[in-house]
Amino acid sequence: MLSETQVREAVGALEDPFLHRTLSETNGILSVKIKEEKKYVSVKLAIAKTNTPEQMQLQMKVVDAIKGVGADSVGIRFEELPPEALAQFRGTANESEAQDLLSPLNKVEFISIASGKGGVGKSTVSVNLAIALARAGKKVGLVDADIYGFSVPDMMGIDKAPVVRGDTIIPVERFGVKVISMGFFVEDNMPVVWRGPMLGKVLDQFFRDVEWGDLDYLLLDLPPGTGDVALDIHQMLPASKEIVVTTPHPTAAFVAARAGAMALQTNHEVLGVVENMSWFESQGSGKKEYIFGKGGGAKLAEELQAPLLGQIPLGQPDWDENDFAPSVYAEDHPTGKIYGEIAQQVLQQFATKENKQ
Ligand SMILES: Nc1ncnc2c1ncn2[C@@H]1O[C@H](COP(=O)(O)OP(=O)(O)OP(=O)(O)O)[C@@H](O)[C@H]1O
Ligand SMILES: [Mg+2]
Repeated sequence: MLSETQVREAVGALEDPFLHRTLSETNGILSVKIKEEKKYVSVKLAIAKTNTPEQMQLQMKVVDAIKGVGADSVGIRFEELPPEALAQFRGTANESEAQDLLSPLNKVEFISIASGKGGVGKSTVSVNLAIALARAGKKVGLVDADIYGFSVPDMMGIDKAPVVRGDTIIPVERFGVKVISMGFFVEDNMPVVWRGPMLGKVLDQFFRDVEWGDLDYLLLDLPPGTGDVALDIHQMLPASKEIVVTTPHPTAAFVAARAGAMALQTNHEVLGVVENMSWFESQGSGKKEYIFGKGGGAKLAEELQAPLLGQIPLGQPDWDENDFAPSVYAEDHPTGKIYGEIAQQVLQQFATKENKQ
């Protein structure tokens, strides 16, 4: 005779592979169903992270445990614990777990910056938004996930290589942002010609082997487009919130919408839209010229049902020959201020999302 109590005791003694607490402590047993005549038991379990090798291992242990109390066959379904349950255990995580970027116990929020096509300003936006978040007092990392077409080191004027300490890579810090890029590991600006599997390995290393320390936000500058490479990268990323960059022309927004659709398909939520190269402001008259058209950002935001986080005019940063960072706008530059406002909008988006949970 199989009883629910027996099953709950046997399964409840197993540990959640990420939280290192028993499933009875995490309230991870959601339901138990028993079909006595067939000696069939099905359970629904909640763990910190699903679809992982750790889940597979736990699955085998659950089957053994339930068969151990007399079942002949076992059915298991997994789902993820709600965020507030995870938050409850985060405080007690050991340091290495809390700093493992891919651990569900890490509080870091991933923000990826995508676009439908190249050259619209993803990297410029990634760099300046990362710096603006750091200026707002956040701990920020930036991954140049454009493995083949890296540009972040040059844009930020980084001329140092990261220090490699044993098996870990220490990211380069610039303007308060910790940066990692394939550009650091390629000599003399040689093109990168690896394919598929290598790409995954490099990205994986960026997440696992880089000593990020304690981060609030990790920004990812994605490669352009909605092709294979972009799709692969989307699938390799942990769940992230996505910012889609577009130019103001309505057809550009149309292409960018595909990037948004890809985000949603791969379970990445769209955080908002940034319209870049919105207008050119004449220094003499202050008149705005809408060189690339108008309305693309608003149209895209409506289509993706996400806010328009900001509009950035055309114009280069002021260059400082002593501290050269060609794409970085100073905090008090008009465009630097716009990035500051976009950063505030981003922080607000996260705050309202947290309140909703
Ligand atoms: N608001 C702007 N005003 C003037 N120039 C800009 C602006 N935004 C970006 N640029 C310039 O446009 C070019 C493309 O920008 P960027 O490299 O950021 O785009 P991207 O979308 O990352 O490109 P890719 O698809 O190649 O990765 C760069 O030379 C950059 O300096
Ligand atoms: Mg780029």
